[in-house]
Amino acid sequence: MKRHARVQRPKALFAPMQVDDIDAVVAIELDSFTMPWTAAMFRSEMQNERTSRLLVARMPHKGDIIVGYLAYRIVLDEMHIILLAVAPAWRQQGIARQMLGVGIDEARDAGCLRATLEVRVSNTPAQQLYYGLQFAPVGTRPKYYMQPTEDAMILWRDPL
Ligand SMILES: CC(C)(COP(=O)(O)OP(=O)(O)OC[C@H]1O[C@@H](n2cnc3c(N)ncnc32)[C@H](O)[C@@H]1OP(=O)(O)O)[C@@H](O)C(=O)NCCC(=O)NCCS
Repeated sequence: MKRHARVQRPKALFAPMQVDDIDAVVAIELDSFTMPWTAAMFRSEMQNERTSRLLVARMPHKGDIIVGYLAYRIVLDEMHIILLAVAPAWRQQGIARQMLGVGIDEARDAGCLRATLEVRVSNTPAQQLYYGLQFAPVGTRPKYYMQPTEDAMILWRDPL
C-alpha cells in the first residue's frame, strides 16, 4: 500500500500582544486589508484592558517572528471578533484556525456564551474558516465596508 507523507503543520505559539509587537502586526495588517489599522489604533485598543483582548501567533522555531493576530472585545457575555489576519506567506497552514480556537477558549473562560463577527461577502477564505468553526450567517449589513464598498455578512456562533 502506498504511504502518504503527513503534512507538517507549523507549531505556532499564541501570546497576548505587546506594544513591541505592533510594528510587525501593522506590517501584516497592510498586507491584508485595504483600510488597515494604524499603530495608534492598536495602541489605543490595547489600553481597553477591561474589554479588549489581542493575541499574536509567533513561530518559536523561525526566529520568533509574528505571523498573525486576533483581536476581540468582550461585550457582556458576547465575544465580538474585530480583527483576524495571517501573514500571506503563512496562510493555509492552519494558523488562523488554531488562533481562533485559542481565542474562543479564552473568551469562554472569561464568561462569553456566544461569538459574532462581520465578514465581506466576497471573502470566501475567511467564511470557510468561520463555517468550519461552527459560525453561521444570520444576516447582512448593507454597504458596511469601504474600499471597495461591500456588504458584510453577520455570523454568530451560539453557543460558544
Ligand atoms: C482568512 C485568513 C485569516 C485565514 O488564515 P489561514 O491561517 O490561512 O487559515 P487556516 O489555514 O487556519 O485555514 C482554516 C480553514 O479556512 C479555510 N480557508 C483558509 N484559506 C482558504 C482559501 N484560500 N480558500 C478557501 N478556504 C480557505 C479552509 O476551510 C481552511 O480549512 P482547511 O485547511 O481544512 O481547508 C487569511 O486568509 C487572512 O489573513 N486573510 C486576509 C485577512 C482577512 O480576510 N481576515 C478575516 C477578516 S473577517
